[in-house]
Amino acid sequence: MNSNFILISYIVSAILFILGIKRLGKVNTARQGNFLSAIGMLIAIIATLFKMDAIPLEWVLGGVLLGTIIGAVSAIRVAMTSMPEMVAIFNGFGGGASALVASAELFKYLNGKEIYLAELTKNNSDLTTTMITIVLSVIIGSLTFTGSFIAWGKLQGKISGQPITYPGQNIINLLILLGVVIAAYFFVVNPENMTAFYVILGVGLLLGVLSVIPIGGADMPVVISLLNSYSGIAAAATGFVLGNQALIVSGALVGASGIFLTNIMCKGMNRSLTNVLFSAFGKVDATKTGPQSGEEITIKEMSADNAAYTMQSAESVIIVPGYGMAVAQAQHEVRKLADELEREGVDVKFAVHPVAGRMPGHMNVLLAEANISYDKLFDMDEINDDFPGADVALIIGANDVVNPAARHDESSPIYGMPILNVDYAKTTFVLKRSMNPGFAGISNELFGYENNYMVFGDAKATVSQFVETLKEES
Ligand code: TAP
Repeated sequence: MNSNFILISYIVSAILFILGIKRLGKVNTARQGNFLSAIGMLIAIIATLFKMDAIPLEWVLGGVLLGTIIGAVSAIRVAMTSMPEMVAIFNGFGGGASALVASAELFKYLNGKEIYLAELTKNNSDLTTTMITIVLSVIIGSLTFTGSFIAWGKLQGKISGQPITYPGQNIINLLILLGVVIAAYFFVVNPENMTAFYVILGVGLLLGVLSVIPIGGADMPVVISLLNSYSGIAAAATGFVLGNQALIVSGALVGASGIFLTNIMCKGMNRSLTNVLFSAFGKVDATKTGPQSGEEITIKEMSADNAAYTMQSAESVIIVPGYGMAVAQAQHEVRKLADELEREGVDVKFAVHPVAGRMPGHMNVLLAEANISYDKLFDMDEINDDFPGADVALIIGANDVVNPAARHDESSPIYGMPILNVDYAKTTFVLKRSMNPGFAGISNELFGYENNYMVFGDAKATVSQFVETLKEES
């Protein structure tokens, strides 16, 4: 096919990717953004099929079919709360694929096959630059592959979520990194040095494991976002190896957006990326983290009925959703509750913390799924000043993001993390099943505050009970 036509197709897909990412930034345009990006990818795949006419079509179609089945089945079956694990696996495969494709190109070149690399040498172009991109693709791709599977294991509980540390860890990692740089040098000056190549591959795989095991399970979503960025960089490097513009552009977009997302998540937790990667955050130190089960806190309980009556007579209620709302899949009941309260003339708002739940935008997605109007959703910075004027803050399965210890307890692992100021409301109701801690593994002093009442039970069942009570009363 005409190479100009292929190039134009790649430009069209790049434009669709950019528009897609832009639209993914807002909940109400996100579906459209996803669709545009998918169309962009379809165009890029079709154009590439014409470019790579040497590959037998049945192999390509077989691969597309297999990939589609695996992707569709896993996307349909995955629970919303396990989405970070699924993204981790996808990143791992993306990184692994980039490393494999770059390696395959190298082997084809060494075997004297007519490929892009061979053309480069014939045209006297810079083979060294291409070898450097192969090295980058193999190191970053293999690191992403093993690192993502360790992250998946930590989130799934297959590997301890505790940071695994040993003395001199950072120095050892640094020495390994130095080793790979030396091996890369020997490979680039002599691409036939296969020992150097296998050292690069082996060290890349090892670095993925070693760099993720010292990070605590609570930070895995941040790590996954960073690995997502790495998988994009590996893909872009492979794009240079293949001379494929679509891969370069899409890899660069994934690389850049992954870094932005990582930054947003770090800001939400008031931590630097260096602190996330190297501080072994979340390692339980019994002398510092205070009571684990809440036995030192005196709490007050309230029945669901009484909590519902209190909200019915309130002027304003701010609902704070958290991870527990996602686990209970309570979002539709929450919508019914908001409707009932509004029918009673209560002003209802939703306060969304940037790291509530287990992935960016987790709460926004669930609330949007329940058709809760966007203009009722407020980010932390927008709503924090409203809590002192609110009669009730209703905390549904949130814990760490409303823990006042973050404001004043310097010994707390979450010290400095911006929180929702729910404790400034006249009354707070906390809906959860037990006194178990949240993701950070620490107790929450809010539960013992004078104006707080615990309403124990599964969030969906409790909110349904609220709705029933309000309906009966109206
Ligand atoms: P968490 O602090 O994790 O607390 C969730 C609470 O939900 C738990 O205390 C749990 O208590 C309760 N729960 C679980 N299932 C429930 C159910 N079926 N019904 C009622 N309650 C239920 O959640 P959060 O406040 O949303 O904070 C998120 C945490 O994840 C933060 O520490 C944050 O730093 C971390 N994190 C988030 C992200 C992103 S991007 N969202 C990224 C990295 C880290 P019971 O077991 O007693 O019910």
